[in-house]
Amino acid sequence: MRILVTGGMGAVGRPTVEWLMGHGHTVRVLDLSVDEPIPGAECREGDITDFASLSDHMQDMQGVVHLAAFPHPSMAPPQRIFQVNDGGTFNVFQAAIDANKRGDAEIRRIVCAGSINALGYNFGVVFPEDQIRYFPIDEQHPTYTTDPYSFSKRTIEEIGGYFWRREGLSSLFLRYPAIYDLNTDEPSMLLDFVEGARQQTAAVMSLPEQERQARIAEIIADFKRRARGREWEKAFDWSFPDAHIMLGRSNFWTCLDVRDAAQAAEKGLLADYAGSHPVYVTQADNFIGLPSRELAEAFFPDVTTWKKPVTGTQSLVSIEKIRELIGFEPVYPFKSR
Ligand SMILES: NC(=O)c1ccc[n+]([C@@H]2O[C@H](COP(=O)([O-])OP(=O)(O)OC[C@H]3O[C@@H](n4cnc5c(N)ncnc54)[C@H](O)[C@@H]3O)[C@@H](O)[C@H]2O)c1
Repeated sequence: MRILVTGGMGAVGRPTVEWLMGHGHTVRVLDLSVDEPIPGAECREGDITDFASLSDHMQDMQGVVHLAAFPHPSMAPPQRIFQVNDGGTFNVFQAAIDANKRGDAEIRRIVCAGSINALGYNFGVVFPEDQIRYFPIDEQHPTYTTDPYSFSKRTIEEIGGYFWRREGLSSLFLRYPAIYDLNTDEPSMLLDFVEGARQQTAAVMSLPEQERQARIAEIIADFKRRARGREWEKAFDWSFPDAHIMLGRSNFWTCLDVRDAAQAAEKGLLADYAGSHPVYVTQADNFIGLPSRELAEAFFPDVTTWKKPVTGTQSLVSIEKIRELIGFEPVYPFKSR
């Protein structure tokens, strides 16, 4: 397949481009800067907010993997995040439709980087106390976004729905969790996060019960205090005590190897389905390695509804839908570098 990858020079983009080429696809990358081109890919400099330029980049394409975005609420003012993440996504869809109609392209499907943050919990600033209604969390779980990034990732899903209803262009919004890349020597903030959260959370879980409960109550109270102060939407600060534990909890101890992120994007282009779908995609198991139900009962004591059984270390975020829709199966469980 001839695939346009927007944001293809980024942390998720580069390995995704390499994965796609390694699986026989021809890839064109579109990114703000292509100073370090990816061998084998056609790398083009461009901006998804510049609609007029997109028609040329769509030429001859059969599928789009749309990754270009600000990936964190601290990276730009809110209006700019909306302009790039949402306006840019609208532009990509509209340019694909226009190219198809001109006969310049045959784009049947767009796979977008969504985010687990479409739920609104992790960076959420005023998340109601009882907002996590049940486990395992699935695509039916209500969302409640209050920061510019999470909002942008939730609203792009509406853009996909619109283009399906209007134009019959199907799409997938991969609600990625923290993604790490083991095949690079670069320091990885997300890998450090997962490793820190693993060790520190396991240490808390090993405390005698009463001490553990008191410790976790303290951690949750501090998490909520920081949420009320809108601290989670600022640039990551890992230096304060319990930061790793709090963020592990607010991501429900999910993460993904970038090869599985790439695999999901490829399957999202190739699988046979109609419509526009947000789907959670994560490893099959929590990254702590302890029973998920015990973790949930300890760290989310107010959540008492179990929509489906969760056994062993099975993820508290369900991947049933992506399994059924595109046949995705995670193959790279968490591993330290
Ligand atoms: N990395 C993660 O753990 C993670 C988790 C959930 C979702 N996501 C999503 O995955 C996607 C990729 O994330 P990432 O971590 O690789 O981010 P990144 O910042 O490393 O890469 C994003 C790329 O998009 C490009 N880009 C930004 N604005 C652009 C524009 N206007 N036009 C063209 N290109 C532009 C950037 O130059 C960059 O190369 C994002 O949509 C992000 O929201 C990432």
